[in-house]
Amino acid sequence: MSKVLALSFGRKMSNTDVFLKEVLLKCQEAGHEIKFMRPDDMDIKPCTGCCACVVGILSGRTNGTCIHKDDFQQISDAYYEADAIIIGAPVYETSPSGTFKTFCDRMGPSHDVAFMTEAKKERLERGIELLPPDNVFKPHIGCLVAVGGAMTENWTIMTIPVMYESMMSAGVDVIDTHVYYGAMETEHILGVPKEMERADRMAQNIIDALASDNEEDLKKWRGDGGYACPVCHQSMFRVHEGTDRVECAICGIEGKVLIDGHRVHYEFSEEEQARSRMRYAGKLEHRNEIAHGAMTQKKVENLKALKEKYLHVGE
Ligand SMILES: Cc1cc2nc3c(=O)[nH]c(=O)nc-3n(C[C@H](O)[C@H](O)[C@H](O)COP(=O)(O)O)c2cc1C
Repeated sequence: MSKVLALSFGRKMSNTDVFLKEVLLKCQEAGHEIKFMRPDDMDIKPCTGCCACVVGILSGRTNGTCIHKDDFQQISDAYYEADAIIIGAPVYETSPSGTFKTFCDRMGPSHDVAFMTEAKKERLERGIELLPPDNVFKPHIGCLVAVGGAMTENWTIMTIPVMYESMMSAGVDVIDTHVYYGAMETEHILGVPKEMERADRMAQNIIDALASDNEEDLKKWRGDGGYACPVCHQSMFRVHEGTDRVECAICGIEGKVLIDGHRVHYEFSEEEQARSRMRYAGKLEHRNEIAHGAMTQKKVENLKALKEKYLHVGE
């Protein structure tokens, strides 16, 4: 038996909630333990940007403790305890709704598996007793769901790519994603059998993955085809005008554009794929640049005096 957690950022008992609850019910029928949480109904304060979490991890003093004392710890505990995590958000202005971003910022550096792994190694070497909990390092799989009211998928375009943020930090392998668009056409998803069937298919993907006897099979992509990036299975690129290069917005990896008649293809080398920020090597690259660059930053002389000019501008 595994643990399956769903986090919904939609309205209570509306489309996102019910899509996720349908996935959970199927997982429960298959014998898994389920949990459903609505961060919008909890006290989740926005990140203040103080970086105490990162400093705590790098110094060996904490496991990423936040200065806020709110309900976030409950979500964090459930997230780490789960084997599979499904996150659903409504589309607001082509992107996920606001609390979702607050949740990602709070997950951010404080849950980074590369920071945690390096911290564990260093602490064992230095004889520091406080180690990150074991469930930080167990494999987690994830699914993402976006629900848009507009009649075209076009108006949901940035939602799933942005939602990868919620899986990136803790190193969760996303195995399926789905966009339910046109949700305003029908009063409720319970009147849209095609979408309820898609929820059942997502549940089956989770059940199949959790039945795997090896990590490679557990983590493999089980969602739909038609994507251009072989790592995140999405197609959101930055195009470098005048070159044959593209950059995956989610993974941060660079690919080459290949033109075959009127068709365009994208090629990502094995080296680039390995350094995706969805994979460990990419996270470690970032962890090292922060640990060696940002934590030993250059000082600015007379900063207080220099700031004086800007202190009350526009007030
Ligand atoms: C502020 C706001 C902005 C929205 N922007 C979009 C949008 O850009 N694209 C879209 O497809 N739907 C948009 N919608 C519609 C919601 O995505 C839709 O109502 C959805 O069903 C909400 O999910 P829920 O029913 O689970 O709460 C917007 C709704 C609101 C309230």
